[in-house]
Amino acid sequence: MIGKNNANSLFVFAISAFFSSLVVAGEVGDESFSPYVDNKGNISFPQAFRTSMTHLGSWFVPDGGASGFHDVYTEKESVEAFRKTGEFPDGATIIKELRASDKGDYTTGKDVSHSTSGLKQWFVMIKDTKGRFADNALWGDGWGWALFKPDHKERNVAANYKSDCLGCHVPAKQSDWIYIEGYPILAQ
Ligand code: HEC
Repeated sequence: MIGKNNANSLFVFAISAFFSSLVVAGEVGDESFSPYVDNKGNISFPQAFRTSMTHLGSWFVPDGGASGFHDVYTEKESVEAFRKTGEFPDGATIIKELRASDKGDYTTGKDVSHSTSGLKQWFVMIKDTKGRFADNALWGDGWGWALFKPDHKERNVAANYKSDCLGCHVPAKQSDWIYIEGYPILAQ
């Protein structure tokens, strides 16, 4: 016969096992890690980033398919953490939006460039200091990597970060794969 205490702890065990199985069965990931990552490491598009995040900085690419403004954002909390530690914290989101540009003569000068409503694509990185998704080809080297296109923002179209992303980020390897020189606000 089981005593009252044993019966109670069995009950607690059964309840917690039930809730853990719900988390495993569901698509919802560990919200405390990132609201944009489910339990398999699938990365979703950070919908409200333009108003909920901080603008880190912008690049201007004059020619080619990636021409226009590359506007980069991260969470306010991630900026604050970076200023303290010099590193992006676990779960930090970095999103780069590619926007078409136009230019014209303004009262500030000739050939002044400005962004337009033409959206091209979005690159997303999520900081992972724990190597959570070792079997997922979109996670590694301390980050989750994703690419979204305007016609289907519900789906990450990158397949493998090593072939789709990493090669181009090698020059920034020493600064955790981030082109940190474009983001002076991380220090000021
Ligand atoms: C053609 C080379 C190239 C490829 C491919 C590429 N990147 Fe980048 N990425 C860059 C460069 C260069 C920058 C900074 C300057 C710029 O945007 O022009 C950058 C910046 C970024 C940024 C802003 C933070 C930073 O590092 O400065 C993110 C986020 C990003 N890339 C994610 C990705 C992801 C995710 C992939 C793969 C799906 C990817 N990139 C593929 C070259 C590339």
